[in-house]
Amino acid sequence: MDHFTYKNGALHAEDVPVSEIARSVGTPVYIYSAATLERHFKLFQEALGWTDHLICFAIKSNSNLAVLKLLGDLGAGMDVVSGGEYRRAKAAGVPGERIVFSGVGKTREEIALVLDGGIRQFNVESEPELLAISEIAAAKGLKAPIALRVNPDVDAKTHEKIATGKSENKFGIPIAKAQAVYAMAATLPGIEVMGIDVHIGSQLTDLEPFEAAFNKVAELTRALRADGHDIRRLDLGGGLGIPYQRDNNAPPLPIEYGEVIRRAVGDLGCEIEIEPGRLISGNAGILVSEVIYLKEGEGRNFLILDAAMNDLVRPSMYGAHHDIIPVVEAQAGVEQAPFDVVGPVCETGDTFAKARNLPPVGAGDLVAFRSAGAYGAVMASEYNSRPLIPEVLVRGDHFAVIRQRPSFEEMLSRDSIPEWL
Ligand code: LLP
Repeated sequence: MDHFTYKNGALHAEDVPVSEIARSVGTPVYIYSAATLERHFKLFQEALGWTDHLICFAIKSNSNLAVLKLLGDLGAGMDVVSGGEYRRAKAAGVPGERIVFSGVGKTREEIALVLDGGIRQFNVESEPELLAISEIAAAKGLKAPIALRVNPDVDAKTHEKIATGKSENKFGIPIAKAQAVYAMAATLPGIEVMGIDVHIGSQLTDLEPFEAAFNKVAELTRALRADGHDIRRLDLGGGLGIPYQRDNNAPPLPIEYGEVIRRAVGDLGCEIEIEPGRLISGNAGILVSEVIYLKEGEGRNFLILDAAMNDLVRPSMYGAHHDIIPVVEAQAGVEQAPFDVVGPVCETGDTFAKARNLPPVGAGDLVAFRSAGAYGAVMASEYNSRPLIPEVLVRGDHFAVIRQRPSFEEMLSRDSIPEWL
């Protein structure tokens, strides 16, 4: 459930008409609903209510400071994958003891940054990384809290570009090697072993791969404890999928996911961490765009929008489906027609949808892409010198711009022409 609904024939974000935001801020624009973010976060809190836990929001899905502040104030931790994301979490007021640091390529500068600023745990992805963290921490007289990210060799049954838990993926330490690496970690001066980490992929719509991975983590926990390691924390990653198509079968609910966790690892007495991104932010956001032209092609009609692949790359990158709805509600019973929905960027791949059935829309009309709150604004670029688009947060009957649309002057001012040219 989200808070983007039609009221009196007009799409609203909570209690604010979307057309009012579009008029005031311009299009394209991302709009987020505070109530939806809160609701999704609380669903995970309830799902893990049976145990000690920390829900670390995967900042990569939506890293706007206002979104992070809202979730941080509810008690969320943060999962960061770069020094930049760490700085965002801190700037939003989240303390280091609620931040976990994931990612396969942490640089020495990033490791030092988070050791100085405070960190709950490094999710370590390789032996060389473990050695680097130990060396940097020991030089500071610290012991870095770590979990090893294990690769359980489980098929997440999701899009190949976002599956991470198969042995051929670059992520984690093969689970068969884990005991040996933990033994090595225990000898390092700058390391304190806290637990185990796993993340098998994103947009999972089936609980079975989670269950398989978590069972392997439970087995490993027992083996490591028998080896003398004090495993007290399990980070089970993110990845629970969301419904991108309203009328399709909905993926499992957080409460069901929580039950899978309880069944697999509930008897181990570990504190549980999870790293959801998409389920919290995805359906808490829409992208609103204006139709520039309706172009009649040969045998097809193109709806040319002012949003493009640089603003929302998921359709061209993964062939992802986003529901597209008119901001003015279609009359009941009105006939729909197929449109190719495209942006102005000079690539055929700048296509949001092919032969999508839509009610009659034309130049000047507003449309909204649903489920755009995760991996939307964060993956945007300035390709074709299109400025990044603004982000707006709605709560109840008011809204605020939480990222300004940059001016062309700002965009150009980042370049410089050397004097010898
Ligand atoms: N933890 C780790 C270590 C991750 O790599 C990810 C996502 C998450 C948590 C959060 O996963 P979520 O709960 O959001 O599924 N750009 C792609 C998704 C990439 C996901 C990368 N890792 C997309 O637009 O579908």
